[in-house]
Amino acid sequence: MSKFQAPKGVSEYFSPRSAHFEFVRSTLIETARGAGYELMELPVFEDTELFTRGVGESTDVVRKEMYTFEDRGGRSITLRPEGTAGVVRAVIEHNLDRGQLPVKVFYSGAFFRAERPQAGRYRQFYQVGIEAIGISDPLIDAEVIAIADRGLKELGLKNYRLEITSLGDSKTRTAYLKELRAFISGISLDEETKARADINPLRLFDDKREEIKKALEKAPVLMDFLTLESSTDFEAVKSLLTSLGIKFVVNNRMVRGLDYYTGTAFEFVHDGLGAQSGIGGGGRYDGLMAELGGSELSGIGYGLGVDRILLACEAEGLAIPEDLGLDLFIVPLGTSQDALLLAEELRSRGLAVDMAFGDRALKGGMKAADKSGARYSIVLGADEVASKNVALKNMKSGESVSVTLGSLANELISRTVNLGEHS
Ligand code: HAM
Repeated sequence: MSKFQAPKGVSEYFSPRSAHFEFVRSTLIETARGAGYELMELPVFEDTELFTRGVGESTDVVRKEMYTFEDRGGRSITLRPEGTAGVVRAVIEHNLDRGQLPVKVFYSGAFFRAERPQAGRYRQFYQVGIEAIGISDPLIDAEVIAIADRGLKELGLKNYRLEITSLGDSKTRTAYLKELRAFISGISLDEETKARADINPLRLFDDKREEIKKALEKAPVLMDFLTLESSTDFEAVKSLLTSLGIKFVVNNRMVRGLDYYTGTAFEFVHDGLGAQSGIGGGGRYDGLMAELGGSELSGIGYGLGVDRILLACEAEGLAIPEDLGLDLFIVPLGTSQDALLLAEELRSRGLAVDMAFGDRALKGGMKAADKSGARYSIVLGADEVASKNVALKNMKSGESVSVTLGSLANELISRTVNLGEHS
């Protein structure tokens, strides 16, 4: 066993899987960017209170899963367990909502929850998410869901379903919570569970214990309490999704693990992942801006779990390109210095170039060229340097053509330009 190991339960990626991970992440980012969402890069740690206020004190995330510590200045700091609270904080702090609305941002990065590790559940995991803040309109709900769905489809995923629900507005909540509290007072609960239900009775639906699940079977359903406005909005979202050709099922018992949701909420669930089947989720959060000290603006967004989406691609046997996109691999013979100079010169022309290092014989160097997946290779020894001529080998066809060193860059550029690169 090595002296040091990664902390328990974190996800890590290295070659060749890191290329798959990057492909998943960049595909999800590009779908968001393609719909006008712009990058927001935020700190991975924030004031603890941002999350206790934003995510909600009764949630598992806040009660049990936050990585919280005191920094050297005695401040309570927490590693971000999710991205929405940070985005809303930044929008308020930098007055981003004073410009054109909606504010449309995407983010991508690591998030931290001290959960019990298991397949697909990590303590450090990755999300690509978007948030659209400032406009309350079912059209945006449908757009946000459609972008998430398109990202998954673009990866080629098929065996997943979209579940949606409406959590209603504050009037819905008040009416529903009154009924739910009355119902809960009629069932027997231990002190801790009771305390949790007192803060937010909805959290009881998160409880994994069979006896609690059974006791809640006859509990009132929130969907039955939707105000006319909420149910009109929800109908509009459903009809828009249908017009967009996006299939969904309504799940009126969906519980999202974060407290800020109102109105439309949704989850993407994959069939091939076992217990950790949620590959993404999101919804509307109309009170969050005000809760965190901003204006009364609404918002909606999603977080897609990159780790689980990669697992889903693997479960579906999807071919993920592993190509590093190398144009040329240089195999030096004798001194490598000329190879390094040439590689740097070609790189400055926009070409992707790698080379063999170490004291390798020709055979070993060619093996490395093969493994690199580069489109072309050359051998660069004293003869080539003296004659200023190399044999440019096409790694796919095995054919070689003689090229002068001076024309190598242009030759490679004209050959790869047909592949749509270096334009
Ligand atoms: P969430 O449902 O808590 O939502 O997380 C989104 C996704 O992150 C999950 O569906 C899952 O794929 C992934 N995920 C969560 N926890 C873990 C874990 N421990 N290991 C691996 N993957 C995990 C949010 O975080 C909201 N901020 C989404 C949102 C944005 N809502 C509105 N805007």
